[in-house]
Amino acid sequence: MGDYHRDYYRDMSKIYDKVGIDKFSISFGNAMLKYFDTMHPDENFKKNLDFCCGTGTLCGFFKDNGIETKGVDISGEMLNIARNKYPDIEFGEQDIARYLDDETYDFITCIDDAFNHILDIDDAKKVIKNLNMLLRVNGLFILDLTNFSLLPKYIHDKSISKSINDSRLKYYLSKEENLFRLNAEYYENNELIWKNSGLERNYLIDELTKMFNDEGFVLESCSQHLFDEVKCIKWKIIFKKVK
Ligand SMILES: C[S@@+](CC[C@H](N)C(=O)[O-])C[C@H]1O[C@@H](n2cnc3c(N)ncnc32)[C@H](O)[C@@H]1O
Repeated sequence: MGDYHRDYYRDMSKIYDKVGIDKFSISFGNAMLKYFDTMHPDENFKKNLDFCCGTGTLCGFFKDNGIETKGVDISGEMLNIARNKYPDIEFGEQDIARYLDDETYDFITCIDDAFNHILDIDDAKKVIKNLNMLLRVNGLFILDLTNFSLLPKYIHDKSISKSINDSRLKYYLSKEENLFRLNAEYYENNELIWKNSGLERNYLIDELTKMFNDEGFVLESCSQHLFDEVKCIKWKIIFKKVK
């Protein structure tokens, strides 16, 4: 899976922060802190590992809020931006299906469709096994999944645009068996600068929950409206490691 996303994010890295995609992680981060305070008032969530950290904005947010954090991503280009923005935070260039370290974390995050990027079920199982080794008991894995069935129709020529000044990112989605292809086009002053495409897997919640149950997790929460701030076409999911 890795090489495929490396190419896609080589292009995306040039515009990711510029068109504001990373801002999702700030609202998600705020919501997580509220969730910890409300649902786990007596527990410590002070040490984070951010899987698929991209340009590092969520790690920066955690650090600003007194949480120790480390980011992991497969794209060197996304990580270059993260390291420039946050020279004091450690970022590792690795595939999360193969990632291990000696530390134990209170919570691990993987947000903005990042888990959908794991195309192969066996790789997903490896990620979950690793999560079990990396989390403390009662530690949380927090992710969101794009729920493709909530997107309007399946979706040839459906565009989701993000425009800032003269730059514009368009996605066209199309279905390929159990995968979805995101065809991205980037324009400046109406001129096409580049286009590229990435694949995502449509995970079903039951299928995912079974894989987590098999590795010692329980589903703590799954909702579209788990965190008020982030209502969108995603499931926000929390798995708790119980053994
Ligand atoms: C949509 S971006 C999300 C980035 C970040 N989490 C955010 O909220 O802005 C998906 C990220 O997943 C990374 N990625 C995809 N497959 C990966 C893998 N197997 N291991 C590590 N990172 C991966 C990509 O390089 C990209 O930076």
